[in-house]
Amino acid sequence: MSIADNATKITTNTLQEMKREGEKITMLTSYDYSLARLVDAAGIDVILVGDSASNVMAGNETTIPITLDHMIYHAQCVVKGVERALVVVDLPFGTYQGDSKTALDSAIRIMKESGGHAVKLEGGTEVAESIERIVSAGIPVQGHLGLTPQSIYKFGTYSVRAKEDAEAAKLLEDAKAIEAAGCFSIVFEKIPAELAAKVSAQLSVPTIGIGAGSECDGQVLVLHDMLGITKDFSPRFLRRYADIGNTIDGAVKKYIDDVRNGDFPNAEESY
Ligand code: KIV
Repeated sequence: MSIADNATKITTNTLQEMKREGEKITMLTSYDYSLARLVDAAGIDVILVGDSASNVMAGNETTIPITLDHMIYHAQCVVKGVERALVVVDLPFGTYQGDSKTALDSAIRIMKESGGHAVKLEGGTEVAESIERIVSAGIPVQGHLGLTPQSIYKFGTYSVRAKEDAEAAKLLEDAKAIEAAGCFSIVFEKIPAELAAKVSAQLSVPTIGIGAGSECDGQVLVLHDMLGITKDFSPRFLRRYADIGNTIDGAVKKYIDDVRNGDFPNAEESY
């Protein structure tokens, strides 16, 4: 039996062990109780309460506007639906970049008020001190390198990162710095597969890829994208595992017809 199948609760130690044994880690986002419950029951290892909630839940163009209160609310809902998965909660933009004391305060609020099991934050050497401080307070931290959506206005594009040698070397340096600062895992977003493989092999902590090829220690996708609920986002790395958007469209249209035609409710559905 695999390490993941054996675990009644996934912890950061389980993920380290999975990396050591070459067992792939699965991670998906969730933002609410009902879907988190389904995702957890299906056997996912890690649920990320991502700041992508800003896009898929709140309809914002970027992840910038979402607040710490919003993230805590989403995480509270998710935690209630989860029995087995490790729940990681994104620290939103503006709640950790200022200084390490602010970063620690934000992480403590997430842990105390949501019941999540770990936090995630974006960045490399510039956030290493904050990671160290959060970890030394007993809070597990997941890093996030490559395409970092909270810095979208600095880069101006969502294109593949670290294609050039200098940026690739910086990513390796950042990954080593945040591993040394205490990250239990690092997400690589939209970087060349070859680079992700090379850096993953040099780290002892598990790497989780999104648009970073198959050699990362695990994979993550945004739930609403892989279920086909979002329609206007189709990067090359996204595989759609369902077409829930069209299923919902068909069901709602049928309901409208049935109500208008007097077919719903029928006698059996009435008291
Ligand atoms: O917020 C999010 O959903 C993320 C994933 C894309 C990794 O950070």
